[in-house]
Amino acid sequence: MNERVVIIGGTSGIGLATARHQLGEGRDVTVTGRDPGRLRAALDELTAHAGTLSASDTDGTPGEVSGSVVDAQDEAATREFFAGLGRVDHVVVAATGSTAAGPFLSVTTDALRQAAEGKLIAHSLTARAALDVLSPTGSITFVTAASAGAAMPGTAGLAAVNASVAAMVPVLAVELAPVRFNAVSPGIVDTPWWDWMDADAKADTFAAYAKSTPAGRCGRPEDIADAISFLLGNSFTTGVVLTVDGGARLASGV
Ligand SMILES: NC(=O)c1ccc[n+]([C@@H]2O[C@H](COP(=O)([O-])OP(=O)(O)OC[C@H]3O[C@@H](n4cnc5c(N)ncnc54)[C@H](OP(=O)(O)O)[C@@H]3O)[C@@H](O)[C@H]2O)c1
Repeated sequence: MNERVVIIGGTSGIGLATARHQLGEGRDVTVTGRDPGRLRAALDELTAHAGTLSASDTDGTPGEVSGSVVDAQDEAATREFFAGLGRVDHVVVAATGSTAAGPFLSVTTDALRQAAEGKLIAHSLTARAALDVLSPTGSITFVTAASAGAAMPGTAGLAAVNASVAAMVPVLAVELAPVRFNAVSPGIVDTPWWDWMDADAKADTFAAYAKSTPAGRCGRPEDIADAISFLLGNSFTTGVVLTVDGGARLASGV
C-alpha cells in the first residue's frame, strides 16, 4: 500500500509542486485549499500527471490523487477533514496568510493579526488535527520563509509570523516524537503568492534577488518540493528548518 501525504494549501505554487513531486515518489496525494475552482484545476492537473507515471517511475503502484475544500484557519473543518481520511503518513502545510508586508509603521494591527491567523494559527491547528490520524512513523513539514532571518526592511510582520512557525519545529520534534517535525524555509520563489504586487515591482524584486543571490536566480516551486521530499523521506531527520534560498542569506550577510 502506498504512503499517503496530505498537502494543506496544495492547489498552487509550492504545495502544488510538492503534490506533483510526491506522486512521482509513489505516494498517494491529498491536497486542500479554500477555492473550489482552484482545487478542481489542481486535481485535473495532478490526475493528468499521475496518468503519465508508470509503476517503474514510482517504484511501485503510482499514487492516487484526491482533494477537499478546507480552510486551514477553521479548526472544526480541519478536524473533520482529517477524521475522514483514515491513515495519513505525512502532512505538509503550505497554506499562506495575508502578507503583513510593508514598512513597520504602515502595517496595521489587523493585518498583523490576519497574517498570524493565516500562518501560525493555521499551521498549529492543522498539526494538532493531523496528529489524531498520523502514523507514528510519519512526519509533519511546515513551510516558513527565509525572510524570518533576513533583516529586510519592510518585512517585520512577515518575518515575525514565519519565525514563529520555525520556532515550533524543534520543540514539537522533541515533544511529539517519534512523529518527525521539520520545515522548509524558502527564499523568493516564483509563485502566485506574489500576485499582490504590481507586475513592475515584482519584476524588480525578482531581478534584484537573482542578482544578489549566489544561485543567480529566484526559486522555482520544484526546488522547494524537492527539499520537502527529502524531509518527508529521511527518517533520521527531525527538528530541522531547511533553508532553500539559492544562498541569498550569504549574500546579505545574515
Ligand atoms: N513564494 C515565495 O516566494 C515564498 C517564499 C517563502 C515562503 N513562502 C511560503 O510558502 C507557502 C506556500 O506559498 P506559495 O508561494 O506556494 O503561495 P501560493 O501559490 O499562493 O499558494 C498558497 C496555497 O495555499 C492555499 N491556502 C491559502 N490559505 C489557505 C487556507 N486558509 N486554508 C487552506 N488553504 C489555503 C491556497 O489556495 P486557496 O487560496 O484556494 O485557499 C494555495 O493552494 C506559504 O506559506 C508562503 O508563505 C513562499
